[in-house]
Amino acid sequence: MNITGSVAFVTGGNRGLGARLVTELLARGAEKVYVGARDTGSVAPDAAADPRVRVVALDVTDDASVAAAAKAAPDVTLLVNNAGVLGFGSVLDGDLDVFERDMRTNYLGALRVARAFLPALRRASGGATIVNVLTLIALAPMGPMAGYSASKAAAHSMTQALRAAVAADGIAVVGAYPGGIDTDMLVGVEAAKADPATVAARILTAVAAGDPVVWPDDASAGAGAVYVTDPAALERMLAG
Ligand SMILES: NC(=O)c1ccc[n+]([C@@H]2O[C@H](COP(=O)([O-])OP(=O)(O)OC[C@H]3O[C@@H](n4cnc5c(N)ncnc54)[C@H](OP(=O)(O)O)[C@@H]3O)[C@@H](O)[C@H]2O)c1
Repeated sequence: MNITGSVAFVTGGNRGLGARLVTELLARGAEKVYVGARDTGSVAPDAAADPRVRVVALDVTDDASVAAAAKAAPDVTLLVNNAGVLGFGSVLDGDLDVFERDMRTNYLGALRVARAFLPALRRASGGATIVNVLTLIALAPMGPMAGYSASKAAAHSMTQALRAAVAADGIAVVGAYPGGIDTDMLVGVEAAKADPATVAARILTAVAAGDPVVWPDDASAGAGAVYVTDPAALERMLAG
């Protein structure tokens, strides 16, 4: 779809990758960008001051909040399910409350938002797109992030189911599978981390091209190539 002239909604658009997606959408000529944020006061003043930006309160785990956000943004043509949380813990002894929170946010939250925005997306005359920001480790887990990996694996499956379910409505569904990104989420973690601006740009380039799957940084592109040819090899690689 054409980013120029689109009306986008970015969940968790106040910081991290979401904030970079907002900047990139504006740079590419989006007509309007709704910035979903739990705390509307946390959106950077320069972003909030753009006349094309509308800040909307949104907690993706809360039915009423999601319904109110969808009502406040009835003209959305491009939904970006970006909001997410990462809890650490291994499959053997990770805190199940933390695993459950990640599942509620990363899987059920993204699904709840997608469902709420479907009426608007179906109304879009020039076609519409949903982007689900997943992660490379949705496809093979990392041991210390077992609960997060599982929540994103569920969101990956949901992405595929949604793609089939809304294709006839003219809605494209894009799965984005980044590797590590340099945001608050990975503070204190020693790893290669991509620039969130680069990741945002590559995701939107994929949306514009109509690609259903995007590996938006060099590390994920390399690992993605391994996954496509030999999924068990990626599992061994990440387990190590
Ligand atoms: N960083 C990485 O290495 C990496 C790699 C692959 C994929 N990802 C994915 O990229 C996406 C963005 O992550 P990030 O790196 O930008 O992380 P981040 O800097 O921690 O930002 C997370 C964003 O999600 C929002 N959020 C969390 N729970 C929410 C909820 N219940 N309702 C609404 N918003 C909520 C946060 O809002 P608050 O400000 O209110 O907390 C914040 O805006 C996530 O889906 C993440 O899983 C990240």
